[in-house]
Amino acid sequence: MACNENITNPPDPSATVDDISATRCEWTWTRRDFMVGTGAALGIAAAGSTAPALAQSEKPVAAAKMHSIRIDINGEPKQLEIDPRTSLLDLLREHFHLTGTKKGCDHGQCGACTVLLDGRRINSCLALAITCDGQRVTTIEGIAHEGRLHPVQQAFLDNDGFQCGYCTPGQIISAVALLDEASRGTASFVTPDLRSTHNFELTDSEIRERMSGNICRCGAYPGIVAAVRQAHDSTANRAAATMHGDDHATI
Ligand code: FES
Ligand code: FES
Repeated sequence: MACNENITNPPDPSATVDDISATRCEWTWTRRDFMVGTGAALGIAAAGSTAPALAQSEKPVAAAKMHSIRIDINGEPKQLEIDPRTSLLDLLREHFHLTGTKKGCDHGQCGACTVLLDGRRINSCLALAITCDGQRVTTIEGIAHEGRLHPVQQAFLDNDGFQCGYCTPGQIISAVALLDEASRGTASFVTPDLRSTHNFELTDSEIRERMSGNICRCGAYPGIVAAVRQAHDSTANRAAATMHGDDHATI
């Protein structure tokens, strides 16, 4: 900052324009003056506002009592000690490195984390792993059989049912469950006649409604609907039979 008079302090901020003019001082701010001045002010303000947050985050987290659970993951029985606050999604990804199941929102809104729990689809980010004790979990890594893709996986490939692929594992697991639900006559919000759901037609509207819990940010929906239709048309009977069986590896 420079002034053409020997004044070392800037004008009083509460001074009026006339007061300032009266000093006959022409203040000249360089860009550097401005950056140094405002940077220092912002730094002080930021330090003041984040200090409590930092102090809060530094509070020691109470150690949790570990719990032992047994869980079947993709046909393999596991037993382990876990923190009871661990979500099923984190158990799969962090403990077992099954990273095919994706963490999108971590709030139950996108469906990227969909897995089968005893054959039913759930959002694994919303399930505590401890509540899955004694149950059977199927992830995207567990649906191919003896080196052959699951028909739904193949249908996604055949119909370009993905773009970046981030949502795809959840979409595929959801579609596998959808085929089972449809084969059991489970109605959806758009099923026209709830009194006879056993032979209802799995229309594109039905597929869209039943897949609506899985969001695709790439907008690959036309390919996804086509893939589910292909999988349904070609394998509905086989998928229904195997989903009801005990050997989930043959889904
Ligand atoms: Fe679970 Fe989005 S990560 S619903
Ligand atoms: Fe990219 Fe669905 S393919 S989010």
